[in-house]
Amino acid sequence: MMSLATRGLAFSLAIALLVICARISEALVTIENGLKTMVYLSPKITQHPGSVSNKFYYDVEFPKGHIAIKSFNAEVVDEAGDPVSLQETYLHHWVALRYYYRKGVKNVKYNANLGFQQADFILAGNDGICDHGLPQFFGLGSETRKTSTDIPDPYGIEVGNPLKVPSGYEERWMFNIHAIDTRGAVDAMGCTECRCDLYNVTVDKYGRPLEPNYVGGLYCCYDGTQCKVKNGIESVERNLYLKYTVKWVDWSDSIVPVKVYIFDVTDTWQHTGIHDCHIEYDIEQSTTGVATNDFTSTRSSRGVLPIDGDVVYGVAHQHSGGIGSTLYGEDGRVICASKPIYGQGNSAGDEAGYIVGMSTCYPKPGSVRIVKGEALTLESNYSSEKSHTGVMGLFYILVADASLNLNKQIHEESKVPIFFWGFAVFGLAICAAVLVAYRRKKQHEDGYLSIAT
Ligand SMILES: *[C@@H]1O[C@H](CO)[C@@H](O)[C@H](O)[C@H]1NC(C)=O
Ligand SMILES: *[C@@H]1O[C@H](CO)[C@@H](O)[C@H](O)[C@H]1NC(C)=O
Repeated sequence: MMSLATRGLAFSLAIALLVICARISEALVTIENGLKTMVYLSPKITQHPGSVSNKFYYDVEFPKGHIAIKSFNAEVVDEAGDPVSLQETYLHHWVALRYYYRKGVKNVKYNANLGFQQADFILAGNDGICDHGLPQFFGLGSETRKTSTDIPDPYGIEVGNPLKVPSGYEERWMFNIHAIDTRGAVDAMGCTECRCDLYNVTVDKYGRPLEPNYVGGLYCCYDGTQCKVKNGIESVERNLYLKYTVKWVDWSDSIVPVKVYIFDVTDTWQHTGIHDCHIEYDIEQSTTGVATNDFTSTRSSRGVLPIDGDVVYGVAHQHSGGIGSTLYGEDGRVICASKPIYGQGNSAGDEAGYIVGMSTCYPKPGSVRIVKGEALTLESNYSSEKSHTGVMGLFYILVADASLNLNKQIHEESKVPIFFWGFAVFGLAICAAVLVAYRRKKQHEDGYLSIAT
């Protein structure tokens, strides 16, 4: 029998090995029928009861070369490599962002802000549709573990195309990971909803006063803030990692590239003509629900795609309290309906009260086409039985450009297997953080101090 100390040492060694292995990853790629798989660990995330970590990690490990991503899955693990329950560490979001970095410039490893304004750094985001924010290709929140994300053949997300990298730059990837430690919390759900009173926060991360009516959201749970814990809770530190699994194939002409679009139910485009996406919103407790026996709070927004295309995958992102979200075509047809899966128990992946997965759509190829300029409606429903702060209503779709696949045959029975593809599902939260960080930055630059949400 190993003593505790020996076991601790063994775990530390194991994790050190994992980290080292991740660093020399190319050697450890597993390959099956051309599908390559690699498991990586993010940089270390140190937490204690009530603490918040929301950092940007630059130049993270990512498959190299001109490839098609088929899957991107992630979960939070501890030093022993064991999955960590959302009841202990709430994964508000993780988002993987692509950027181009000027060669030869000194590396920055992580930061609490995103350095958009630097000339050395060019964000290479997805295809839209928000003017600012939600640029991620991959990302999810609490629902990461049970959201299926396989991208069927012959589709894939093209990355690493050397012809698309500006000269003098190289393509890199970064993470934004927002994790909230709710061990010993006075109100764990309140901490996950970033309620300002629980964080004893009156200024944002730039030190500017919050508006009095701002009661919860990302401006109150930024990196380094502390959610209220019960008296007598011992402040023990621990180290966690985002373990992420990427699956890909080498690029070839037989792959049909898909574009990544993210719709946001807070997008003001319908009213302003500008895709101003606020990412977060609040749900007020219903005052009429008891009388009418209806506790549904509905919000909707509109948007259009700049191309004709076939939807090959779709999924929504919602927070606790969410009861479903649908993207509709102009004629009212359902493009994709996605519903949350709530956990029932205590184990990682099944935490009661938390959204542990979102249902997804895999339309038969060619069966769900969106026409360029068609007015799409996104609807996001939440329960208003209780109030909620900082919720989201995002919808992520993968679209094959119809003008591109005309001369490509789409075989339902492709030679390449269908890959699990944990991809991006939703930048969800992550996107949110990025967007908020960006907006704040922008407002800061503009000297515009009001709170966007
Ligand atoms: C809340 O913040 C104020 C001012 O920053 C500080 O004086 C006070 O001790 C804090 N209260 C708690 C419970 O942390
Ligand atoms: C949202 O709720 C309304 C009212 O109950 C319902 O008519 C609508 O179909 C729901 N939409 C979604 C996407 O669930």
